[in-house]
Formats: sequence, structure tokens, C-alpha cells
Amino acid sequence: EIQSLREQLDQHNHHYYVLDDPIISDAEYDTLFNKLSELEKQHPELISANSPTQRVGASPLKAFGSVVHQLPMLSLNNVFSSEQLTEFYQRTHKNLTESPIEWVCEPKLDGLAVSLTYNNGQLIQAATRGDGHQGEDITQNVRTIRSVPLQLSGSDYPDLLEVRGEVFISKSGFESLNNSLESNEKKFANPRNAAAGSLRQLDSQITAKRPLEIYFYGLGHYQPDHASLPKTHWDRLQKLKTWGLRINPEIQTAMDVDDLLAFYNQLLEKRPNLDYEIDGIVYKVNHLEQQETLGFVSRAPRWAIAHKFPAIEATTELLDVEFQVGRTGAITPVAKLAPVEVGGVIVRNATLHNQDEIERLDVRIGDTVIVYRAGDVIPKIVKPITAKRPKRTRKIQFPTQCPICESPLAQEEDQSAIRCTGGITCSAQMKESIKHFASRRAMDIEGLGDKLVEQLVDQKLIEHVADLFNLNIEDIAALERMGKKSATNLLEALETSKSTTLARFLYALGIREVGETTAQRLAEHFRSLPSLIAADEEALLAVPDIGPVACHNLITFFSAKRHLALIDQLQNSGVHWPTPEAPANTVKEGFFAGKRCVLTGTLSKMSRDQAKALIQKAGGKVSSSLSAQTDYLIAGDKAGSKLTKAKQLQVTVLSEEAFLAQIE
Ligand code: IVH
Repeated sequence: EIQSLREQLDQHNHHYYVLDDPIISDAEYDTLFNKLSELEKQHPELISANSPTQRVGASPLKAFGSVVHQLPMLSLNNVFSSEQLTEFYQRTHKNLTESPIEWVCEPKLDGLAVSLTYNNGQLIQAATRGDGHQGEDITQNVRTIRSVPLQLSGSDYPDLLEVRGEVFISKSGFESLNNSLESNEKKFANPRNAAAGSLRQLDSQITAKRPLEIYFYGLGHYQPDHASLPKTHWDRLQKLKTWGLRINPEIQTAMDVDDLLAFYNQLLEKRPNLDYEIDGIVYKVNHLEQQETLGFVSRAPRWAIAHKFPAIEATTELLDVEFQVGRTGAITPVAKLAPVEVGGVIVRNATLHNQDEIERLDVRIGDTVIVYRAGDVIPKIVKPITAKRPKRTRKIQFPTQCPICESPLAQEEDQSAIRCTGGITCSAQMKESIKHFASRRAMDIEGLGDKLVEQLVDQKLIEHVADLFNLNIEDIAALERMGKKSATNLLEALETSKSTTLARFLYALGIREVGETTAQRLAEHFRSLPSLIAADEEALLAVPDIGPVACHNLITFFSAKRHLALIDQLQNSGVHWPTPEAPANTVKEGFFAGKRCVLTGTLSKMSRDQAKALIQKAGGKVSSSLSAQTDYLIAGDKAGSKLTKAKQLQVTVLSEEAFLAQIE
């Protein structure tokens, strides 16, 4: 039974990690996993290092052993432009006496190169690249990576097989890792550093908790030598896949230099949307025979090249720091930089987030700093280069009063943001809240951009959002870069915006923690503004997805007289909306109304989907993960870890019978 469970779990890991196409639910996987753990606990003599249960890490090492690579781990030569690539391409053709060449294009992952050795399909060793000839033995750590098979699938692999790939941490994994660190722990600067720090941990139990992943990109040494492996790189990658070794899904073949460049441009565009960092493209000659003919120059193959993307990190000088006031009064330090190109864009400003961040980085005005820009997020300062610190630097002084309205600043407990207490009397907050009110997903006032809002406030034509609807054509037309025509357009847009929805209106009010989704939920639930305003804590918390913070902010907002007056004024100016539709299937009464349920184990009278439909029909919500917010765990037969967790979290557990009784 142990053997069969291991095989099943390996197969499901393969579907999940390699094929990206799971065939069972997480809960079903957990059930199998728990069954195996239980049996192994009863029979410790049967525990094997390659069991899927053994990915938790082993006891800490004093130091890593060293591993000599049977075949050296080479590096790649780089090109940085299409001209340089074309030169490489022509050179390669010349060296192969002009016979046709097929290419394979692969994303160049920005992680760490590793080499894994399998003996009769079992993972026996993993090593870092080191200096290319000798690396470090990181077997214990690599064993904890879920996408690394401990046992290969199939049977046609060589007895001894070395495979090579890149270990990395995804962008989302990096964010959640940094968020999960305690406040006294040092945050990682970027996903690559996080991956390096995690892979080179002497304590593999720590590595086991890090979201490391792998993509394989080639073979190393293998035996026997005459192993019948495919004769092209592409086919070998497909073979790796059948053995359960994960390969990058973006890989493509190409026939000529135009194809190579097209792939480069395609990935460059896709780069911000990929969940992992790539720093370029690797082009490889597909046929092994041609690879052998081309051979190597010093430490890099002649049959492959890395075409690097423009860097997304750059160094520049920190000239000054300004403090911006956001819509909610939060004061954000903004670094003013000597202009620098980062990934093809000129960057002049970068965020320093908050005071804690300034202290953590110990960055000073005059420092040389590393700037990082990923996707379309605001560039940020990674760190100062202290070795280059000039004699005269200036400490960054966080203001003690609002830089715009001079109101005192305040910091709420447990929050890193420091806020201006001026509220709507602060012109900066006012401007930001008007910009938000007018924005596309809020009241959608076309043509009312940031510059115009600033002028309107600075010229004292408006003081708050309700004044927008009292503007007249002469006032607007007199503004900079405005005329009669654009003034008329703006008035029309204002008129159009009056007919809105309750959800948009609520979102436009800019109540803290009330984003689009929350606004939508509130609108569906209360269906009229007066009933929302009248709602108490209990009524608000009954709305799906409303937590205690949003609840508190809503109550505070609607208990301020000036806010109610503002709402009146807006409605008197003609802002209106139809009564929102009640959400489908809402049941306001009954046992499961508004409750969050999780299903686990095997149900005997119905399928999971049927149970789910019944709960939803009774007004409840079903989610897959259990948390303190869960109201009921419905546990069928052989319930596993979720049941234990529910007991720890004191979540009410219902048996299948109890569940059916309530439904009836
Ligand atoms: S092939 C002989 N393919 O880039 C060819 N390398 O500068 C050896 N890398 O150390 C490497 N993605 O860490 C290859 N698809 C890919 C890659 C890749 C990232 C890294 C690898 C290597 C470095 C070479």
C-alpha cells in the first residue's frame, strides 16, 4: 500500500508541476498524502528517502561538501543587440559550412544553475555550479523542492543521468516570502537573492519552507554512453518532460535569424506578465551532431548564445527625497534620482515606501543607489552602495508635519504608514481624492485628468468633489490649456457621470479598505445607500469579504456629518443609480446563509460538487482553503490535515450526516 500511495502521489506531482494539469483536487491529494504519512509512521522501517513525505528537510549541516562535475558546467557568451546576434548567426553558419540549422529558443531564467544526478531513476545528488568544475553538494536542499522528482517516471532513462537546470523563486513567491518574514528579519532584495539565500541554506528545513522552483534545460553526463537518447536538443527536452523533469513552457524552435528575433521580441513583451524573472533569451543549435562540430571556445559553447534583455536594475545617484501626500493622507517618501535608463525606460523617481524602509536601507542623500523596475510597478530603491558613499551625505529627515497643509502627522498602531491628520482640509489629500473620484473605475469623468484637478483646486474653483457639479463653462474655459470646446466636453462628461451605479459611487467615495470588490459586495448586499449607512457592525460583518478593518472604516466614515452632507449634495446635484440586483442565489435566512464552508474527505451520499451546489443554494460560500474565517468544515470519510487544522482553529466540524440534516 505504501508503494502504491507513493506512486500515486508521484504521478499527481507530475501532473501538477510538470504538466501543469492536476487531475485531483488539493484536498484529495492531502488525503493520499496523509494516508501515506500515517502508514510510514506505523512502519518507520519502510520510510525511504525518496518518499514524497520526505520533503521537509533534514538536520542542519556544518558546511556543504564539494562535488566535482563530471562534465564542466559552462557559461554562455552574451550578445546585447540584434546586430551582434546576426554576427553570431552568420559565424555559426560559416562554421557549419552553410548547411541549414535548426534552433531552439529558451527564456534565460534569472536564478541559479544546478546539476542533479539520478541513479536508476533515483535522485542521488544535487550540486551548485560553483566555478564550473567544482560545486557544492546541496542534495538535502534540492530534495525539498516540490517540482524536483525524487524518482523519475517512465523507464527509458540512462542508468546514470545528470540533468541541469535553473532554480528560481517566482515573483509572487518572492512577494509572499518577504511578507511572511518577521519584522526583525531582513527582507530579500529581489527573487534571485531570495533563491540564492534559500538554496545555500545549511538548514534544509528552512529551505523546505521557501517557494523554490526549477526548470530543466539540458543534460550533463550520462551512462551508458550508448544510451539511446534523441539526437536533437528539442527532443531531449521532451524526453526530460516524460521523465517528470519540468521544462519551460515558452520554449520554441526557430529556422532563421528573423525567427530568433521574433521570439526575443515576443518574450520581451511578455516579460512583465511572466511570474518569474528572465534576463534574456538563450538560442541553441538543435542538432547534437552540429553542436559537436561547433564545439567550445574556452568556457562557452559555440552552439549557443545568450541574448540579454535591457537591465531592470541600474545604479544612479540619489539627489533628494520629496514627501508626497496620498489620498488617505499617507506620506510617501519619493526618491529624486539622477536620470537613468532601467530596462529601456528613463527613471527619475523611485519609491522609498515609508520611514521603516528608509531606516532599514540606511540610505542617504548623495548615495549611489541601485534602482529596480519590474513590469509596470513603480521603480524602487534596492539599496545604497555603501562602498561608494561620498564623505558628505545627508540623512533623510522624515517631516514632522504635513508638507502640504502643515497639519500634524500621526501613525496608527501596527501600521507603517504615517499620515497627515488634515483630512479634507489638506489640499493634497483633497486633490488625490478628487482624482480618485473622477477615475475610470469610479465615477468615470472623462477628460478630468490629474493636471486639471490640480488647477481646479489651486484656483479655488472646487473644494471637494460635490463642487465639480457646480462648475460653469467660463471658469473651466479660463484655465490653462482649456478652451470653450474642451470646457463643454468636460461639462458633458460630468453630466454623463451622474448616472452611475451604487458600487461605483461607494468606491468613488474613497473609504479606506473599500476597493472595487468590497464596494460591489456592499451594493449587492444592502441594495440602497440608506440601509448601508444604517448598518451596524454585525450587519456589515455579515457581508461576504468584509473584514473588521473595512467594517470599522465604514462605520467611522458614515458617522461623520460632513460625509453625509457631501453625499446629500452629490445626490441633489443629480448623481443617481438604479437599485442593484440582488446577487444570484442569495438566501438571507437559514443555516448556511453568509457562512464560509470548506469540504474535506470523501462524502458517501453525494459528490463534492453536489455538496458545494447545496451549500451555495442555501446561501453559503465554499472555499478550498481553511482559515480562521471559515465557519464550517464539512468532513467526510478519511478527512486528513484539514480536520486537524479545523480543530486547532476551533472551526465547527460537521459530519456528512449533520450537514445533510441542516440542508434538509
Ligand atoms: S544553457 C552550455 N539554458 O545561464 C550551456 N542556461 O550564462 C549552459 N541559464 O549558468 C547553459 N536559463 O544558470 C542555459 N535556458 C537556459 C538557461 C541558462 C538560464 C543560466 C545558467 C547558466 C548561465 C549561463
